[in-house]
Amino acid sequence: MRLGILVSGRGSNLGAVLDAAARGDLPGVEAVIVISNRPGVPALKVAERHGVPVVVLARRDFAGPEARDAAIGSRLRLAGVEVALLAGYDQVLRPTYFAAFDGMTLNIHPSLLPAHGGAGMIGMAVHCSVLAAGDRETGVTVHAVSAELDAGPPRLQARVPVHPDDSPETLAARVLEVEHRVVVEAIAALAAERERGPSSATMAVAPESVPPDAAARE
Ligand code: GRF
Repeated sequence: MRLGILVSGRGSNLGAVLDAAARGDLPGVEAVIVISNRPGVPALKVAERHGVPVVVLARRDFAGPEARDAAIGSRLRLAGVEVALLAGYDQVLRPTYFAAFDGMTLNIHPSLLPAHGGAGMIGMAVHCSVLAAGDRETGVTVHAVSAELDAGPPRLQARVPVHPDDSPETLAARVLEVEHRVVVEAIAALAAERERGPSSATMAVAPESVPPDAAARE
């Protein structure tokens, strides 16, 4: 399964995926290209360290976001990418992207979608929203991306407890650890599914993130 990864910043999820592939935990998966919409971000170094080709397609080099998104889709297609992963990619992809790239696109979202998804729900805003709502539990969702924001079908979710004394930062750190595990599991499951042909199971919940007794308390 030829994987392309879109990034915008830190690249810790990218690192988790490339580390897992290097350990042999993603059989049949080959990361063939990393595309960033921002030059000079740490994620590019992560890709280079793993020897994965990088391409920067910055907004300023295109007439507009539609043209940039078309270029992203075309680069994925030219690289023979079958599955694209948005790993901390910070822009909404326009229809021109989906017109140019007809493979599957997955996103990692740091909440239990549909909760705390949609417009503006990115990065720390998600964790602030969870704390403001008084939720006792949050989580991670890996979902297929459609042209409608955060609305594609979930493929894998995992729960993460919210502690009473959490700040957005402590919660984000706890969620991020789970993201790193779940994104690898989601890609491995997808590769296995494609290997054996379409499966009726498109979503699984990973309850092991919250011990059953903790879940009951909430
Ligand atoms: C992650 O929290 C991810 O869920 C969100 O953006 C963040 C990216 O972090 N979409 P990183 O660049 O993978 O470290």
